[in-house]
Amino acid sequence: MGAVVSQVLSGCTPKNSSLSGINSRTFTATGNTIRVGEVSSLSGSEATFGLSAHRGIELAFDEINRNGGILGKKLELVTLDDRSKPEEAATAATKLIADSAVIAVLGEVASSRSIAMAPIAQNSKTPMISPSSTNPRVTEMGNYIFRVCFIDPFQGEVMAKFALEHLKVKKVAILRDVDSDYSTGLADYFTAALKKGGGTIVLDESYTSSDIDFKSQLTAIRAKKPDAILVPGYYTSVGLIARQTRELGIQAPLLGGDGWDSPKLVEIGGKALENSYFSNHYSNDDTAPKIKDFVTQFSQRYTSKPDGMAAMGYDAAMILVDSIRRSKTLSKQDLRDAIAATKGFAAVTGNISLNEHRNAVKPAVVLKIVDGLFRYQTTIQP
Ligand code: PHE
Repeated sequence: MGAVVSQVLSGCTPKNSSLSGINSRTFTATGNTIRVGEVSSLSGSEATFGLSAHRGIELAFDEINRNGGILGKKLELVTLDDRSKPEEAATAATKLIADSAVIAVLGEVASSRSIAMAPIAQNSKTPMISPSSTNPRVTEMGNYIFRVCFIDPFQGEVMAKFALEHLKVKKVAILRDVDSDYSTGLADYFTAALKKGGGTIVLDESYTSSDIDFKSQLTAIRAKKPDAILVPGYYTSVGLIARQTRELGIQAPLLGGDGWDSPKLVEIGGKALENSYFSNHYSNDDTAPKIKDFVTQFSQRYTSKPDGMAAMGYDAAMILVDSIRRSKTLSKQDLRDAIAATKGFAAVTGNISLNEHRNAVKPAVVLKIVDGLFRYQTTIQP
């Protein structure tokens, strides 16, 4: 059994009445632990994001606890499932923070849900670290809100640059999810960067996250004969969009962002995704020792390879651990100051320094889908 004292609760059920069954263990807090909250999408439309991030965090906490914990105390993780819904992320954050023993909150993975929970963390002066929410607004919510990933103005530029310079495309159509702060932001930043580089957006279409039929938008896109189509959404919609794109006879490659990074993407989209490209935080093809070690540890424990979200969850947890060690006391304010001072931390997804806006400045990778696998193409520096 792993050493981490961990409980996973469904966000909407009363404490201890219903464990979700996902990695849940008996809750045995002794008072001699450091308690950390986690808000995660363990079910719902982006369940793989939540599960991967959770596993990454759990792996990190286990590693620390196996080696004696921090300051003689074990780390204890309390996880609430928000079912991929912003309102429930806010409720979960409120519940976790109501527990005075919780010193910090990890999460959420997706931007709209981080934006929903950030004001609660900020108002209660509880440090919050998002592993992977890339929309700029997340950390603008206040000085207690951090992230360990790059932000979308950069990610949009990465894909525009890749489209123009590597793929030599000029005319791009967009199909964006209007329900997602992440998707609309990324579409806008990509547009600005593509235009600046001499490209044009031939059509900008949209959908809502519950849509399953994209044929009318794709028919309009087909008429514009784009060289590529940007689909900055999450894996479930993107998989369906890819299939319908090919059904309509459109051959143009699809381009996307980190929201594609899920084993479910290819399960849903199949062959329709071949030769498409997306930007990401990490590639598990990478031979850097830190990444190889992480991939081995993760695969041994969970019998599947880690995706980017798992690596980001691990890194967010390790940055919190490092900050707890450097913090003058375990007060939330001292912990906030220690997190803010993070510089040159050697993480799995690269060296992490937090800037004055509490964002990480890091390179991005571009991956190509070949035979259903995500193949590393290039790294783009900030
Ligand atoms: N960046 C996405 C968002 O802000 C979340 C995400 C990160 C999804 C990494 C997959 C992998 O909503």
